[in-house]
Amino acid sequence: MAIALDDHIDLSPMEEIFEAFQGQQGALIPILQKTQAIYGWLPPQSLELIAHRLNLSTSKVYGVATFYAQFYLKPRGRHVLKLCDGTACHVKGTPILATAVEEEYHIRVGETTEDGELTVEIVYCIGSCALAPVAILDDEVMGRVKQDKLIRTLRRKLSPATKTTQGKTT
Ligand code: FES
Repeated sequence: MAIALDDHIDLSPMEEIFEAFQGQQGALIPILQKTQAIYGWLPPQSLELIAHRLNLSTSKVYGVATFYAQFYLKPRGRHVLKLCDGTACHVKGTPILATAVEEEYHIRVGETTEDGELTVEIVYCIGSCALAPVAILDDEVMGRVKQDKLIRTLRRKLSPATKTTQGKTT
């Protein structure tokens, strides 16, 4: 289940960004990057404010934000698990890993747990095919991952409240 969007977002920290880039042409991407650095993602309200301040259409700002994979239009979890589903990793078992995580935390790939603790994403070949299947939890790269080890690692790293018992999120 995806976490709910927070309607009450304080946009005042963005003023510093607009000040820093005042009058600069082509500042949209760095402004998006700095905004994401504040919130961890790009709330819709922030995109509307950026469009207003840069005198751009909202659709132009959304177009750029959705074009680049570095930008997130939904909140991400405090921990991010990336499962590589390039050819080598797929053949070596990434679908099994994805299913195990989905069953453990009751979310689908691409979603975030309700408590905002974990986001699961798919990436395509990170250049470590010899270690397939590869999973990356935050900055930790795990190679030749087995589902039991992956779930154990997640249980260890995530907040105890996110841990599951008998397949239910608590
Ligand atoms: S396919 Fe996963 S690292 Fe290359």
